[in-house]
Amino acid sequence: MNAPDAPAPASASAPAPFLAAGRRPSSVERHDVVVVGSGIAGVYTVLNAPEALDVALVTKETLDISNSSLAQGGIAVSLGRDDSPELHLQDTLYAGAGLCDEDVVRVLVNEARPVIQDICTLGVDFDRKERPAAGPAPEGVAQLALNREAAHSQNRIIHAGDTTGKEVCDKLTAVLLRRPRVHVRERTIVLDLLVRDGACCGVSVFDESTGEVRLLLADVVVCATGGYGQMYANTTNPAVATGDGACFAYRAGVPLMDLEFVQFHPTVLHHPQNTTFLISEAVRGEGALLRNLRGERFMPDYHEMAELAPRDVVSRSIFAEMNRHGDDHAWLDITARSREDLQARFPNIYRTCLGYGIDMAKDFVPIAPAEHYCMGGIRTDVFGRTGIAGFYACGEAACNGIHGANRLASNSLLEGLVFGRRIGQEITEVLARRDRRRHAHDERHFTRLLDVPDPRPTLSPWEEEGLRAQLRRTMTDKVGIVRTRAGMEEARAWLDALSARLDAHRPVGVHGYELRNLVLLARLTVGCALAREESRGAHFRADFPKTDDARWVMHQTRRLGDPL
Ligand code: SIN
Repeated sequence: MNAPDAPAPASASAPAPFLAAGRRPSSVERHDVVVVGSGIAGVYTVLNAPEALDVALVTKETLDISNSSLAQGGIAVSLGRDDSPELHLQDTLYAGAGLCDEDVVRVLVNEARPVIQDICTLGVDFDRKERPAAGPAPEGVAQLALNREAAHSQNRIIHAGDTTGKEVCDKLTAVLLRRPRVHVRERTIVLDLLVRDGACCGVSVFDESTGEVRLLLADVVVCATGGYGQMYANTTNPAVATGDGACFAYRAGVPLMDLEFVQFHPTVLHHPQNTTFLISEAVRGEGALLRNLRGERFMPDYHEMAELAPRDVVSRSIFAEMNRHGDDHAWLDITARSREDLQARFPNIYRTCLGYGIDMAKDFVPIAPAEHYCMGGIRTDVFGRTGIAGFYACGEAACNGIHGANRLASNSLLEGLVFGRRIGQEITEVLARRDRRRHAHDERHFTRLLDVPDPRPTLSPWEEEGLRAQLRRTMTDKVGIVRTRAGMEEARAWLDALSARLDAHRPVGVHGYELRNLVLLARLTVGCALAREESRGAHFRADFPKTDDARWVMHQTRRLGDPL
């Protein structure tokens, strides 16, 4: 992929560039680096930056809440005797449905082993083929247990039980907290990226605990805020996944890419009390079958790889099977495995299901597809650069072309590690070139820009909550697993009206900012999905069911000033 373009100038038709406008900053902090997001990508970026740097790690909730920490399945890395980075590359390209950038995927698969080696050294404890009675694993990555997940031709998923993300995040965060110059800012949402003369100067933030807007000035900002799964009614993502990073990047002129590709995980618990809990793909990797409510296995009718077909195929097949019979869920059947096996391999999933009265060893598990991962995001190059000097993005917030139209299972934590490390290592160089005198000018400049009266009235919190719920329903019904022009046009008209209404009102508090971000991203997503008149990977158009390689082997980007 080429280096990202220079940022676009703001246009008259574009949304207001500053979300914080109308709020005089109440204080200013100065740091070398601001990292936004406390998932694996953000934390590992900090760990790879020089320890002497002063870093602010900003997170919208508490440090332990992120999409990464919910990841169950594992991390893909070619360690097996018959495996190789080349095979991992081939599987990633196949799942990506012709839209992966091969050079970037090559970086991902080649750098997988060293990053895994490194995090093991930092204390991450993955399951091993044979676990010694006690003590550390001196034998290194060669001894890690390898499992299979959908669309992988080899066993290459390393895991820590069925709570891999939590193990990795907990261990890396513990290391991070031992760094004396890392300042954690919890319950803080970033509103705007501050940019002057094409260079990043920091961010404006809203501190939920004090209700204040503050400026965090820094020469480097790394966006690792995750995706925008909260745009959909059912999602495995935590409540914080509202695409704030993509939106502050977009408002600063950075292009967003591949927004139409939203991945739905095939097997999410469908229970009256819980429709967000993931039943890991690893369960199908261990032999689970999918059945319709008549008890019939159906995946072999849809794809030769049956339950282990690429994720987009499995989700769509379940959706089709549910619609064929008018059902609202299907079954996942792992009853062929013993209770002891299931408790040992999937302790968290087994326990959670049992909490809802489902004993996986003898009961089928009710499941339905739900939003899980956004392939699209802030366009970056292979070093996480965005086109604005000093502004980087990595993890789910970024889009560097590795996932194409459909992410291969267990490539996402890996992406956060590989590109977080690359950014962390590059930061030193950027800071060597900085001009520290700039900060005082930046403070005056941005304080003046933000400190303008905002006479707009506000909407009540419950009105905004209602609008958010409607937005999530609209996106699920009209821009979800199966899309049509008519449905998306309807969604677009509704979103345009909602956007105009919100523009006439001043945002209040975190939820107000989030709602505006979700609406902006929803409008951009619909625009991209309408334009792509074909079906590819996670983007399926009932009115254009075929893949059109002659016209559509290309990424779509959207930048400030483009028509939505
Ligand atoms: C899962 O455990 O099924 C999720 C893995 C992933 O999203 O890559």
